[in-house]
Amino acid sequence: MSSRKEPTSEILKRAAELADQLHLHNYRYYALDDPLVSDAEYDRLMRELQKLEFGYPLLQNPNSPTQRVGADPLEAFGRFIHDPPMRSLENAVDDDEVREFEERGRRYLAQIYDREINNFEYIVEPKLDGSAVELVFRDGDFVSGGTRGNGSQGEDITKNLQTIKDIPPRLKRPKNGPPPPRYLTVRGEVFLDLDGFKKLNRVREEAGEAPFANPRNAAAGTLRQLNTKITASRPLKICIYALGQVDGFEFKSQSHFLETLPKWGIPVSPDWHGCRSLTAVFERYAIFLEARERSPFEMDGMVIKVDSFELQRDLGHTSRAPRWAIAYKFPPKQEHTVVEDIIVQVGRTGVLTPVAVLRPVRVGGVDVARATLHNQDEVDKKDVRVGDTVVIQRAGDVIPEVVTVVRELRPKGAKKYRIPKKCPVCRTPSVRDEEEVAVRCPNPACGAVVKESLRHFASRGALDIEGLGEKVVNQLVDEGFVVEPADLFKLSPRRGELIKLERMGEKKVDNLIAALEEAKRCPLPRFIFGLGIRHVGEHLAEVLAVRFGSIEALARIDQEALIEIHEVGPRVAESIANYFGNERSRRVASNLLDAGVAPEAPASVAEAAEGPFAGKMFVLTGTLVRSTRGAAKAAIENLGGRVSGTVSKKTDFVVAGESPGSKLTKAEKLDIPVWDEDTFARALLNKQIP
Ligand code: IVH
Repeated sequence: MSSRKEPTSEILKRAAELADQLHLHNYRYYALDDPLVSDAEYDRLMRELQKLEFGYPLLQNPNSPTQRVGADPLEAFGRFIHDPPMRSLENAVDDDEVREFEERGRRYLAQIYDREINNFEYIVEPKLDGSAVELVFRDGDFVSGGTRGNGSQGEDITKNLQTIKDIPPRLKRPKNGPPPPRYLTVRGEVFLDLDGFKKLNRVREEAGEAPFANPRNAAAGTLRQLNTKITASRPLKICIYALGQVDGFEFKSQSHFLETLPKWGIPVSPDWHGCRSLTAVFERYAIFLEARERSPFEMDGMVIKVDSFELQRDLGHTSRAPRWAIAYKFPPKQEHTVVEDIIVQVGRTGVLTPVAVLRPVRVGGVDVARATLHNQDEVDKKDVRVGDTVVIQRAGDVIPEVVTVVRELRPKGAKKYRIPKKCPVCRTPSVRDEEEVAVRCPNPACGAVVKESLRHFASRGALDIEGLGEKVVNQLVDEGFVVEPADLFKLSPRRGELIKLERMGEKKVDNLIAALEEAKRCPLPRFIFGLGIRHVGEHLAEVLAVRFGSIEALARIDQEALIEIHEVGPRVAESIANYFGNERSRRVASNLLDAGVAPEAPASVAEAAEGPFAGKMFVLTGTLVRSTRGAAKAAIENLGGRVSGTVSKKTDFVVAGESPGSKLTKAEKLDIPVWDEDTFARALLNKQIP
């Protein structure tokens, strides 16, 4: 009755210890790619736990590391032998390390050849961040495939690979190209693009499953799925980058290999390049690094390979890696560090944003000391606490954020975090918006809100007032000189007082006053943007400025009329209407005008107001074939017309696309002229009503 065998307390303790350690190692390996122990040590721990669970089935539970996808026991799959072994790559982190790599190659070849090789020709490729696999094609058929495993031996995941659409079940015979060889093994990376990754995690979260930490983790986990249906449901992709073996064909070089494979239907990264010198390699690295920010998939570096297969053969490899290739890594975008504190920042609109104060760390080449925690919901979801070790991430220009917490490293007694009930600056009780997750300080006179609004008002996209940075704004507010933007323009008579302020001085004050004087004639779009109306960014400010031509006209318009504007959605319309409906904010704007600020309307306003469609109301109906509705609406508005959603007596013209609906019937009833798309297109082209 071994299945009923009760584990002793010692065994229970050991099993729990092992599970804890393995969970931590899984996390380090799969989520951070930064293992604490060797694969061998990991396997030893895993086998010990498997043995215990086998001997004491009462220990078995679905949360055990022996049951997790990221660490499925190797026994679940058949073995897959790699011949030659799948090696790893040396890494370089700067240009010098790449130069040393070339120098090592040159010295190595000098022992073999009489002549010196001075210039290597290289192929560079993106280093895709996924999971390495090998594919075997026999007589043109895809017959098997395996994971990298320990390099000599991986797991046979043929069934899972068969679900990947990019892998041809049978190789193509090109019309003008060589037929596929009798036997071919190739290596490549299976990955998920960022879109696929996000979708997958959304589905998982909806199903109450833990999301994957990153696309690599998701790809690796998916490949080792025991249920092929699950693998098939995930959008895995593959790019082949290396030759294993070939029989019945000869590749001369990596470039020859990369050119030939697609002819047989095998996908390679299209982004490979020949480089005739290291200078060209470094130039390409800069391009890759830049492209990485916009890339639809994760790249963690660029792989540099000696092109010629003859040279590759002569260079050979060490036990770990080839001498003819190196990975030039990108600076990592994820790092772990410790949350030293959680503070709250009060934004321009009063929103309280929790921010993690971090032990400083370099991420992707930038020093990071803070990361946004967004809002209370996010804090709750990730359960970030002071003292936690966290993974932080920087993507593009985005503010760094906390990705996950390393639960295993949480100090005892760490408390759950809650955004304070009072604004940390003015102590006003905070309120939570009904529809939004944001908690805000409702006090418009709150020091933080005032300072942030002024900063925004003076910022580059707004009035662009030189000499009015964060420090000066804080000083002016703290010393009582400024409470609202209009006060800035009343500073010149107080020159004498300003000069006495710390770090100010005559020159600084005079420059500031001059900059303010100049800012009075700012362009209208910048003025609108500077008001800081929620959801009104620089682009929308431009649209509104062109449409209304003055602040007074914009302030008069109601919400419904705003929605009629192409590019203004209901949320934005509501926000603009709320802004001008609020006595206090209306005063902020009018006080500015009273203080002598005279925004200049864009030139195109006059044209729009007098445009050929000026004063005309259009209604669009049916499917437009020549353009989208959005584009049609924009075109009408550009010529001074307006577009409405409903046909009424006020409608001047109806533009009817294919299968128009009841609007057409109504237009006919009201005797309103109806244009087909051709007429409409002609009117736009000729800029006149036909
Ligand atoms: S060549 C013997 N090329 O990076 C040379 N590897 O850190 C084999 N990788 O195990 C590798 N993109 O999984 C090569 N264009 C590329 C690659 C690439 C990603 C992965 C591969 C390898 C790991 C080494």
